[in-house]
Amino acid sequence: MNAPPADAAPLADAAPLVELVDVGKNYGSVLALRDVSLLVEAGAISCVLGDNGAGKSTLIKIIAGLHAHDAGSYRIAGEEVRLSSPREALDRGIATVYQDLAVVPLMPVWRNFFLGSELGRFRMDVPTMRATTRDALLRMGIDLRDVDQPIGTLSGGERQCVAIARAIHFGAKVLVLDEPTAALGVKQSGVVLKYVAAARDAGLGVVLITHNPHHAYLVGDRFLLLKRGRMAGSHTRAEITLEQLTAEMAGGSELAELSHELRRAGVAPPESESGADGT
Ligand SMILES: Nc1ncnc2c1ncn2[C@@H]1O[C@H](COP(=O)(O)OP(=O)(O)O)[C@@H](O)[C@H]1O
Ligand SMILES: [Mg+2]
Repeated sequence: MNAPPADAAPLADAAPLVELVDVGKNYGSVLALRDVSLLVEAGAISCVLGDNGAGKSTLIKIIAGLHAHDAGSYRIAGEEVRLSSPREALDRGIATVYQDLAVVPLMPVWRNFFLGSELGRFRMDVPTMRATTRDALLRMGIDLRDVDQPIGTLSGGERQCVAIARAIHFGAKVLVLDEPTAALGVKQSGVVLKYVAAARDAGLGVVLITHNPHHAYLVGDRFLLLKRGRMAGSHTRAEITLEQLTAEMAGGSELAELSHELRRAGVAPPESESGADGT
């Protein structure tokens, strides 16, 4: 009775949150991206891997509305788009946390949390903003005793976590993270990855940029490998092991060749049976 007409558009939630198909981008004569495809689904983490200069930041700048793509298609919830500003991406639920977090170090945590979205029409409603910041962080399992402390006093990992909690609080559907663990040690990286997983568990679609296959494999559902602006691999988690991903990332045979040469040159220690410590 209530069945939709046969020619109705597919349900919005049947389409992936974000879909890039054969996207390309040039900076003048520099080819930054060519024929790159990426799928971002609700409740899943899509990892983008690649070395410096591979095109990772370019890819997320397209998703974030900072640069427009000049080939291929970009769809948000099934609708073809060409974004012309970050505001447009944000309005469509796409929040991006950049490598160099756009925070004001001397401002309190709660001010940074509400930066650009302050409550109160004429006078800021400070108590509510403080309480909301504390609650939002607590809901992510971050117990920050003092949200009045300058955000510059937090560790890099904590600042990433605040940025993630902020995106979730303001209703993002897609969270894009540019190398959130790049400048962090092992322990802090683990903490940040925990909150990346929490964002996924909250139902967001996450794009995680990293050059660390171990970090990617800890949380990722999909893996896109970029090399010099092109796709060098695209796998679901079921299709690839960490070892394969690491090898693919390192360039497989290139790496074997390099280690062979280093050994011949006497730079690297001779090959040993790893794990078989006979002493
Ligand atoms: N604004 C720009 N103008 C010109 N070339 C750029 C610009 N941004 C990036 N590039 C070039 O595009 C390529 C990809 O860069 P980028 O996306 O930053 O890679 P990644 O984030 O993987 O390190 C590089 O060759 C880089 O030099
Ligand atoms: Mg980059």
